[in-house]
Amino acid sequence: MRIIVTENYQEMSIKAAKVIASQITLKPDSILGLATGSTPVGMYKELINMYKNRELDFSTVKTFNLDEYYGLSEENDQSYHNFMRENLFVHINVKKENINIPNGNVLDIETECENYERMIRESGGIDIQVLGIGCNGHIGFNEPNINFEASTHLVNLTQDTIEANSRFFSSIEEVPTKAISMGIKTIMQSKKILLLANGEAKADVVYEMIKGKILPEVPASILQLHNDVTIVLDRESAAKLKDNVV
Ligand code: F6R
Repeated sequence: MRIIVTENYQEMSIKAAKVIASQITLKPDSILGLATGSTPVGMYKELINMYKNRELDFSTVKTFNLDEYYGLSEENDQSYHNFMRENLFVHINVKKENINIPNGNVLDIETECENYERMIRESGGIDIQVLGIGCNGHIGFNEPNINFEASTHLVNLTQDTIEANSRFFSSIEEVPTKAISMGIKTIMQSKKILLLANGEAKADVVYEMIKGKILPEVPASILQLHNDVTIVLDRESAAKLKDNVV
């Protein structure tokens, strides 16, 4: 694991955007795995700036998002489709047909999950997967005690996650209780992984992910077994790590 500790959220975002920018520069038809949540918003802003300054071109890039709530339409303000539109896609020149996000509004979930996996495979596989981390150690919506062998599937969100995500909804009752998420197997098959974390609330789980045992109770700990992981942290989330960091 390559661990980069930055001073603050802005520096974390800039460093992470540079990793994505070099990926796209070296391979203009890169397959990007993308995440939602508060953590990558600053990185997306930096990527938008780079695009506006003509430093980056997304015209041949393909994207696959990690997850989508189950039961929300794509147009719903809180859907991850909408999040991605607002925070990245409408601001850059990625082609609509090259954007992939699980459809959370299907009846045949199994077929949707199989198709998603097939599309990732047929695209050649994810070159770099962006991840945040939940305070409970989840990556994507792979909640504690996940089966490490799972591919894209329907998950039940834990109460922790529902509470954490209720900040985006007008009441906790409105937060969906299920989501379609890439599985740990899907994530581990990405060629590279870029995980971002910031804020003191993440310090314990960041420590567990990097220094703890590899356990299904901390899904992100499996990343210790991936051979190309870059973790970009701010000072607060790195507070429990004392050595082996740059
Ligand atoms: C988002 C996702 C989640 C978040 C995690 C952290 O697509 O899959 O795993 O990355 O919940 O969320 P934030 O960044 O809001 O703290």
